[in-house]
Amino acid sequence: MKITVTRDSNEVEYNISEENITLLAALEYVKENFDSSLAYRSGCKSGICGSCSVLVNDKESLACKCKVSDKDTIKPLKYVKVIKDLVVDVKQMEDLLKNNKTYLEELSNEKILKKDEKLIDLQSNCILCQSCYSSCPVYEVNKEFKGPYILTRVLRYVNDKKELNINNKLDSIQTNGIWDCTLCGNCTIACPQFIDPKTDIMNLRMKSIQNGYTDPTIQSNDFLNEFNNFDTGFNPNSF
Ligand code: FES
Repeated sequence: MKITVTRDSNEVEYNISEENITLLAALEYVKENFDSSLAYRSGCKSGICGSCSVLVNDKESLACKCKVSDKDTIKPLKYVKVIKDLVVDVKQMEDLLKNNKTYLEELSNEKILKKDEKLIDLQSNCILCQSCYSSCPVYEVNKEFKGPYILTRVLRYVNDKKELNINNKLDSIQTNGIWDCTLCGNCTIACPQFIDPKTDIMNLRMKSIQNGYTDPTIQSNDFLNEFNNFDTGFNPNSF
């Protein structure tokens, strides 16, 4: 089978003589048999570390989990700086995590029960593969958007009974955050952990409104309605 790998904006074709293998195994094959300089990232090789996420036929996939097929095209993730071939920079992700309070800030003494754990269970499964980030169309127009995995992590800490400073977290996601999402659901489809960032963002919107924040898009719609109903005194029948 033939696969095409985008390497520094060039498309390079490789013939793989093995069948029914994962994409990661195919990349290892290329490295061993054709070009030892091919750069890609991997770690656990079992879908746990999230380091091998790439685009397969323009869809985000974990190279260690997906089977490769004839004519597949392999590219690095979108909206992140490419260091080499399929390896992207993780600095952007580290900064986003640090700057958006995706950690416990003020510890409460609350006792955590099994039912409380359930509230944060799914979001805690994020492996930071950045697939959701790469799938998000908002980055086409807003590079400052915090993005699906950040917002999902914020919800995880907003729902955590150990966190006292919930308002601080909600405050941090009002600009370039929950209201900028188009709710397209691409992130939910892209997530290999079956996390649902779209629903998490809707939950954060609801919690924000319950805590006194307002939806800026509703404000602007109100403004538009007012504008449309505004009587200009112009009467087309008078001509
Ligand atoms: Fe760890 Fe693929 S190598 S998720």
